[in-house]
Amino acid sequence: MANGFFPEEKISEIRNRANILDVVSDYVRLKKAGRNHKGLCPFHSEKTPSFMVNEEKQIFHCFGCGEGGDVFTFLMKAGHFTFPEAVEELAKRYGIKLIRREPSPLQKKEMTKRETLFRINQLASDYFHELLTQKREGEVGRRYLTQRGVSEEIIREHRLGYATERWDGLVEHLREKKVSLELAWELGLILPKRKVGDSTLREGPRLEATNFYDAFRKRIIFPILDLHQRVVGFGGRLIGEGQPKYINSSESSIYHKGEVLYGLPIAKRYASEKDSLLIVEGYFDLLTLHQYGWKNSVATLGTALTEQHLQTTKRYTKNLIMLFDPDPAGIQATLRTLPLFLEEEVTAKAVFLPKGEDPDTFLRKGSREVFERRLAGAIPLMDFFFEWLIKTHDIKSIDGKVKMAREAMAMIRKIPDKIRKDLYVRTLAERLDIREALLYEMIRPSPKERPPSAEGEKKRLTEANLQKSEEMVIRLMLHHPELIPIVSEEKILEEFESPLLKRLGKELSSLFQIKGRLDLSEALRGLEEGLRGFLSAYAFQETGIEGGKQKRVLKDCIEKIRRRRWKRDETDLLRRIQEVERQKGGKELEALLIQHQELAKKEKGLLKESLRKG
Ligand code: UTP
Ligand code: MN
Repeated sequence: MANGFFPEEKISEIRNRANILDVVSDYVRLKKAGRNHKGLCPFHSEKTPSFMVNEEKQIFHCFGCGEGGDVFTFLMKAGHFTFPEAVEELAKRYGIKLIRREPSPLQKKEMTKRETLFRINQLASDYFHELLTQKREGEVGRRYLTQRGVSEEIIREHRLGYATERWDGLVEHLREKKVSLELAWELGLILPKRKVGDSTLREGPRLEATNFYDAFRKRIIFPILDLHQRVVGFGGRLIGEGQPKYINSSESSIYHKGEVLYGLPIAKRYASEKDSLLIVEGYFDLLTLHQYGWKNSVATLGTALTEQHLQTTKRYTKNLIMLFDPDPAGIQATLRTLPLFLEEEVTAKAVFLPKGEDPDTFLRKGSREVFERRLAGAIPLMDFFFEWLIKTHDIKSIDGKVKMAREAMAMIRKIPDKIRKDLYVRTLAERLDIREALLYEMIRPSPKERPPSAEGEKKRLTEANLQKSEEMVIRLMLHHPELIPIVSEEKILEEFESPLLKRLGKELSSLFQIKGRLDLSEALRGLEEGLRGFLSAYAFQETGIEGGKQKRVLKDCIEKIRRRRWKRDETDLLRRIQEVERQKGGKELEALLIQHQELAKKEKGLLKESLRKG
């Protein structure tokens, strides 16, 4: 993999100094399990941990989804970093001075678009923040925030900003900083004066500053940060009345609303500490909560909670408290997220505020104590769902009972925990006066959903068995690189049945040939993604073979692989012979028979060859 502008020694230094356990712990709650650490995989949804980290080898692997790699690849995957970004992040974290080589013109060109996008957002954020906190033109913004009671500390902590009424303030600023206006447009910070579809806009000279105007004007600016403090987007609240009240950056390659929660970079620590996270809907609600001491709060950004949101928050706590509008639309929206909570095994409670209040107005009017009491009275969302069903169905009538039973069971079936599920079924049965067995009947899996038969499982295992010796060769290469020359000499990789394992083996042996050693991290980094997961999995599986015996085992494997290859060839040949015999015979048959004789000779040779070097 190209490493951009960093010398190889620096990358080794970072790799040696960094501890993968620290880095992964930002994303995953890890528990010690034997020689490894274990946790829920951040790359796929799972209930039982199959994500492993090995501190000694400094690698990770998920036995559920197959993702694996070293500290760099982890950050790239989990934090959406490019390789140079991951290098910089780790250097910063472990106090290693990075001397960036002056990029060559070619490298400059290659400097990823993403880096530039982040840089433009950072420039814009600094520009808005300075206007608010340092400049005379920022007076309007300062007055507005003071009037709403937002403290200076909050302004600083959340790096709030202000956009003036000017049409070209940011455009001018970005032009001075010589950044690509086209990319700023892509981020939704500035907009073209002409229609977007106008093709002439795409031509160089038209992309001049005079053709753009600021998207955010006369607004309080809320920069939205990801978990690594990078600005991914902005929200802007109009000062005074008018429409639209809020505008938000458009989705871009660095901003996905369904993944980001406003305030999380600050809230994450408090969420872990207090083992709970409050979720609100508005920017100001979030700021007020933080100002009043509930720093374990985040806000959704005008979207419903998504699975990715929960994947993220689960790293810090599994107890969520939703504060939301008590109007029917708000209730509906919250209930729609209930299945998600159940599936992700997250406990969600709901707090209702008085009509017409949001957390911001409620806290500023009332007191901490009153709010605290409301929080203490939070209702589990599932219970609330039951209440709501009872309210909206006539459970005295048979029709009403049946309908409610169906809707409730559709929800209950999503609960993975059996005990919890059983308790809810019992409550429901009592409420509706229906036998529990009947309710269970409603959620019995259909034959299609049943787990695979023992027969199928057996077949799968024999197939796996066939690959075993090929896998063992790879594991031996990995854990005992001194055997790699034998593997190369025997040219056994050529005879592998699995194309994937063949490619993996070839990568390892060529790396060994070039460097004269095998460095696991280096190998992981150099591999294409599909292969990397295999390698990290094998790295976790020691061969378990006593010292001195490895060579013997390697020979056995080679023999098995050869014999199988030979069998395959023979079967093919015999089939062709039969075919030809049936059709016409003649010359072709003769040739095939000769081939078969040669193959038979090879079988003897094959065994001898392996034994000869014993
Ligand atoms: P609200 O209309 O409840 O506003 O929208 P608010 O947060 O209480 O703001 P103030 O107190 O009136 O200043 C809730 C959230 O919905 C999104 C914003 O994230 C907002 O904070 N929203 C709202 C938009 O994205 N666009 C809008 O036009 C309105
Ligand atoms: Mn509000």
